[in-house]
Amino acid sequence: MHFIALTSSLLLAGAVLAQQTPAGFTPAVDKPLDVYYGTTYISPGLLVKKSAVAKAPTIGLTNTTLTGKYLLAMIDVDASGTGPGLNGRTTVLHALLTDYTSSGTTQNGSSILTTKATGPSSYFGPAPPAETPKHPHNYIFLLHAQPDGFAVPASQKQVVSSRMGIDWNKFASEAKLEKPVAATYLQVQSGDITVRRFVEF
Ligand SMILES: *[C@@H]1O[C@H](CO)[C@@H](O)[C@H](O)[C@H]1NC(C)=O
Ligand SMILES: *[C@@H]1O[C@H](CO)[C@@H](O)[C@H](O)[C@H]1NC(C)=O
Repeated sequence: MHFIALTSSLLLAGAVLAQQTPAGFTPAVDKPLDVYYGTTYISPGLLVKKSAVAKAPTIGLTNTTLTGKYLLAMIDVDASGTGPGLNGRTTVLHALLTDYTSSGTTQNGSSILTTKATGPSSYFGPAPPAETPKHPHNYIFLLHAQPDGFAVPASQKQVVSSRMGIDWNKFASEAKLEKPVAATYLQVQSGDITVRRFVEF
C-alpha cells in the first residue's frame, strides 16, 4: 500500500514539473520565468520562507531574445474565500509591474529584465495567515509582452487597486495581452511567521 502511494505521488510530482504553473491553473505555461530572490533560484513550486521573499525578486529569461517591454503579475491563488483562485479559492494580486526591459546583464545564464516602475500594483511580499489544517499558498508569476500604450482597463481598475479576486484570464483578455511569455511559482506555508533577523556583532 505504502509503495503504491509513494509511486503515484512521484508520478504526480513529475506531471506537475512538466509545466511552470501549478496543476489546475490556466493558462498553463511551459517556458520557465527565472526568478531569483538574492541568489536563490525559484524552481517551480519551491517552498520558501516568508522572510526570504519580502522584497521584489530579480527576474530574467534563459535562451530568449529580449525585445520591447514586458509586464509581470504575481498572484496568490490560494487566498481564503471563494473566487477565481485554485480549487475555488480566491486570489490576491501581489504585484503588477510594467515596463520591464532588458538590463543587458545576466545572472546564472538568465538575461535579466529590470524596471523602474512600482505599479500599477507595487510588490508586497507573501504573508499567508495561519490555517488549520495548514494550506500552503501558491504564488504565480506571469510575464507577458507589454502591448504599446498599455493601461489597466477601466473594468479592471477596482480589482487592481483592491488586489482582491483578480481573474487573470479576464484581465489578460480585457487588457489585450497575448499568452504569457513565461511563468513560474513559489509556495509559502500558511502561518509562516519567520521574520528577517539582523545579525548582531
Ligand atoms: C541556475 O539556473 C538553473 C535553471 O536554469 C537552476 O536549476 C539553478 O538552480 C540556478 N542556479 C543558481 C545558482 O542560481
Ligand atoms: C538553453 O539552450 C541550451 C542549448 O540549446 C539547452 O541546453 C538548455 O537546456 C536551455 N536552457 C533552458 C533553460 O531552456
